[in-house]
Amino acid sequence: MTEGHRRGVVNKRPDPDPCRDQDLGKFEVTVRDGAARLGKLYTKHGVLETPMLLPVINPNIRTIEPREMWEKYRVSGLITNSYVTWKHEKLREPALKDGIHSLLDFPGVIVTDSGTFQSYVYGDVEVGVEEIVDFQQKIGVDIGTMLDVFGRPDMSREELEHAVEETANRALDSLNAAGEEMLLNGPVQGGLHDDLRAQAGLLMGELEGENRGFAVHPIGGIVPLMEKQRYLELFRILLAARSTIPPNRPIHMFGCGHPILFPLCIALGVDLFDSAAYALFARDDRLLTPTGTVKLGDLNEWTHNSSTLFQHTPSEVREMEKEQRSTLLAHHNLEVTQAELARCREAVRNGTIWQLAEQRSHASAKLREAFEWVLEQMEEPAEGPVGESVLRTIASTNPVRGTAEQFSDDIDSRPHLLHLNALLAMRWRRPGSWWDGSDEKAERVGILSGAEPPWRDSALGSAVSALAEEPRSILLISTPVGLIPFTLEDVSPWCHVECSDELWEMILDEDEIDTWLEDLGISDLPLDIHLCQPDPQSVAGGGNRDKIRDWIDRCAIVDKLSLFCGISPSEACKLSAEMTSRRSRTDRMVNVNFADVHCLSPRLPDGALSLTLAGAERLHTLNPSAPSSFEEGVVASDLDHPGMPRVLLMDDAIPFVGKGRNVIHGFVLGADAHIISGQPCLVVSSKGELVAHGIANATADDMAFFDKGIAVKVRDGAMK
Ligand code: GUN
Repeated sequence: MTEGHRRGVVNKRPDPDPCRDQDLGKFEVTVRDGAARLGKLYTKHGVLETPMLLPVINPNIRTIEPREMWEKYRVSGLITNSYVTWKHEKLREPALKDGIHSLLDFPGVIVTDSGTFQSYVYGDVEVGVEEIVDFQQKIGVDIGTMLDVFGRPDMSREELEHAVEETANRALDSLNAAGEEMLLNGPVQGGLHDDLRAQAGLLMGELEGENRGFAVHPIGGIVPLMEKQRYLELFRILLAARSTIPPNRPIHMFGCGHPILFPLCIALGVDLFDSAAYALFARDDRLLTPTGTVKLGDLNEWTHNSSTLFQHTPSEVREMEKEQRSTLLAHHNLEVTQAELARCREAVRNGTIWQLAEQRSHASAKLREAFEWVLEQMEEPAEGPVGESVLRTIASTNPVRGTAEQFSDDIDSRPHLLHLNALLAMRWRRPGSWWDGSDEKAERVGILSGAEPPWRDSALGSAVSALAEEPRSILLISTPVGLIPFTLEDVSPWCHVECSDELWEMILDEDEIDTWLEDLGISDLPLDIHLCQPDPQSVAGGGNRDKIRDWIDRCAIVDKLSLFCGISPSEACKLSAEMTSRRSRTDRMVNVNFADVHCLSPRLPDGALSLTLAGAERLHTLNPSAPSSFEEGVVASDLDHPGMPRVLLMDDAIPFVGKGRNVIHGFVLGADAHIISGQPCLVVSSKGELVAHGIANATADDMAFFDKGIAVKVRDGAMK
């Protein structure tokens, strides 16, 4: 601890370093969870770590000084209005002379808006399309905004079509006027029409100026919806626009800044927010909280504290002069905003952003309505841009988790569970042979119920007894989130659901069981329900116990290779014909050998698979061709088991990746569409040779677009 810290003096936050020239405007994603992502946007005034909020600074008012924002609240970027600056000589002259960073006294990233919002509020603005971009570039803005046409939700379709087209018509000149150094926002308009939002995303996303394309895509025209809490339409717009916006561009919700909206927005792919709410609400004596807005007049005590409010009671604040009071509340509002964003980022990191969005949805009836609508879209994706977006969200979500899963009524609709259940329905198959060496058809389905995980302790005895009695039994476990094969007993979230004892003991009703059996393709078999007994495991199965256990272990590996690696069960059976394994002290399989060679291990935190190089080599021999390149598009296979997903590496990177270095975006030439972020993949050359294996850190769509960041976290190079 320094002397300064001891005395409570905060060290001055140093000015940011400019990014390297080659990184300017690039967006890198470091953590992904479905649509949610943690990213870095590179600028000349430092890196914006997303998701983040750009506080709005009115250059004439400055409720909180930008310098204080930088130092005290660690705000790395803010947004101000270039049109207001351009219009007022007392701002324009110093901005042109010394630059906008000096005018605002802010060393971080400065984003500016263009006057479009003023045209929405006050009617036309007097500035030209290129003139306003040129002005932003001259005053040294990091990320400017073109003069888009604000598409109000109440406009006719023709008017909205015009807003989209006219914005796109102005885009190229605007990009060229931005010059080499300034990045530009390319707003996506389109009102409430899904197809227009998707069209706008496409038009704005594909444009390339002399220096670059747009760096960020704000979703525009949404302020009137937020003012009226029309959240369902807000999320619909986000999903429709996201269907065509290139995945390597950050998405900004223009004018969105109430913390209650952050978790769901972030879970659905928003990277940037901006808002004057912290100051505007404070002026009205209103406090922002992550669950809504609170009026100062209604409070006896603070319901959500902050370092600003700790020093005062609500009645003391009410007694303050108006100016002092609103400044104080603005500080509190900014603190709460920053804290909720930190909470969201942490939730993305630990895989719980969807659970946070779900919790917050209970805070407001309108938000709940919107959340439930999103869940409906997830459960039954419709045709069109919204459906495409939700399908992509589900497919891009790692189906397994290393963290506890809180039970709720909405649990089944969480994207990772939808993905896991879809994989189960598509790729799981009934066993082809049994522990007694027979290979006839299955005789029955046995459901083990009433046991809590770890099931290898609580249900193994019952499983072994059931199999000893009838070897050709398919065993399932009844869990609060449905029926799962016993072989997947250590896969989280299934084995990690936190709920009451009552739910664990609950037996599914007949209809529910039928639905699950149909999904698994085994509804034709007779059914037996076993209530798990705490019987001594060592007795169950008699002399065949070890044989039965080995068979269960082998089925577990076959099932996991099918589910998580896309290997067909028959190939997986052949691979595991001579399988042996080692167990940990907690009785979990740790090392799995095929013909005495260590090939894979179940991952302890989530139950999926971790390959060794020898395992990767074996899986590679099953499909030695090279995947198609991005030039042919990211084409989905029609097969349920398309084989181990592969990434096609550029020749230049082979010497590095072959020795174990990570695969970096930009060096990927192609990828199989069924790559699952967070799951194993192979890295191959254009000749189809195995270069490395590792864990995919992105989807194939992402790999086709990104040119910065890690695409595959390599475990082993194959060319050491
Ligand atoms: N601020 C809030 N909404 C908008 C919008 O649609 N366009 C621009 N440029 N700024 C905004």
